[in-house]
Amino acid sequence: MTPSTRIGLLGAGFIARRHIGILSGFPDVQVVALADPDTGRARELAGPLGAHVYADDHELLEREALDALYICVPPFAHGGPELAAAGRGLPFFVEKPLATDLATAERVAAEVAARGLITSVGYHWRSLDTVERAAELLAANPARLALGYWLDSTPPPAWWVKEAESGGQMVEQTTHIFDLARFLVGEVVAVSATGSRLDRASFPGADVQDVTAATLHFASGAIGTVASTCLLNWPHRIGLHLYAEGLALELSEFELMVDVGRGRPVQRAEGDPFVREDRAFIDAVQGKPNVIRAPYAEALKTHRLTLAAARSAREGGRLIRFTEVRNEPEAVHD
Ligand SMILES: NC(=O)c1ccc[n+]([C@@H]2O[C@H](COP(=O)([O-])OP(=O)(O)OC[C@H]3O[C@@H](n4cnc5c(N)ncnc54)[C@H](O)[C@@H]3O)[C@@H](O)[C@H]2O)c1
Repeated sequence: MTPSTRIGLLGAGFIARRHIGILSGFPDVQVVALADPDTGRARELAGPLGAHVYADDHELLEREALDALYICVPPFAHGGPELAAAGRGLPFFVEKPLATDLATAERVAAEVAARGLITSVGYHWRSLDTVERAAELLAANPARLALGYWLDSTPPPAWWVKEAESGGQMVEQTTHIFDLARFLVGEVVAVSATGSRLDRASFPGADVQDVTAATLHFASGAIGTVASTCLLNWPHRIGLHLYAEGLALELSEFELMVDVGRGRPVQRAEGDPFVREDRAFIDAVQGKPNVIRAPYAEALKTHRLTLAAARSAREGGRLIRFTEVRNEPEAVHD
């Protein structure tokens, strides 16, 4: 029998609960320890697992013999945990976004590359069967126009509405759609964006833009727009619509609509993409073939794109171009 893969997990919030639910269903995985400064929260999740609880990642990494680490902390808390894991040669799964800035993510990426570390980032849309189907349809008939949306409510964590703590909606949330656009349409060579905000009585102290619109220029010549808002009280539209010659696709997290002019047939997404991304990471850690869809270096390209969009929106819609090789912002063009 395969010995259990021993997992430690940082952050005991919403997304940690989801990964724990999945990991504890794998017969060859054991979540052995959790760390969260809110130890009460960690204890609640750890109890049924018989896992140890710590207040911080240093103590957890010092005391536990792990095979891999899950990093499920808010955007502002990245860098330290990843570098500590990398320093120990410990593979890690980290939730998006990689950080609130570029320097932190680039430093981590350099360590990961230098050590050849197995990593995975929580861009779970890439693991949807409907996304695979869309990629097949677009292989012979590439998308020329992309319209992305994240039109939703304001998420509950207090850190979310603070630009310095979350990075803002495009960096924190719509990053899934920017990533999907890169995955299905290709690299982006330039981006510009605009955004604004209103004071809202229900969110005192909030400083994130509550409406943004980004324009994407793809290397292929395709173009796109990505609109985001957190002003609603429900998830109104979250997805990516793609247009090619004689082909219109509408992708959400739950279904794919393929329009070739004969009605609007819908394919429901089958299976759980979170299960697929967790299984792919565990398999790679166990030495099985590595089919991880979003390793750290790949996610870094999406992070550069969303940060550039957010910067453009702060700076009045300036066009920011990327160098083709590293997808890095060039000198800023007016
Ligand atoms: N892939 C997805 O679809 C998806 C969905 C939800 C959230 N997320 C991402 O997961 C991350 C966490 O989101 P959440 O909704 O779980 O937030 P949350 O606020 O519910 O939980 C975060 C937890 O991390 C803890 N924490 C803060 N600093 C820490 C540190 N240094 N070490 C350990 N724990 C620390 C907090 O005390 C909190 O309990 C965010 O980046 C978010 O974007 C991804």
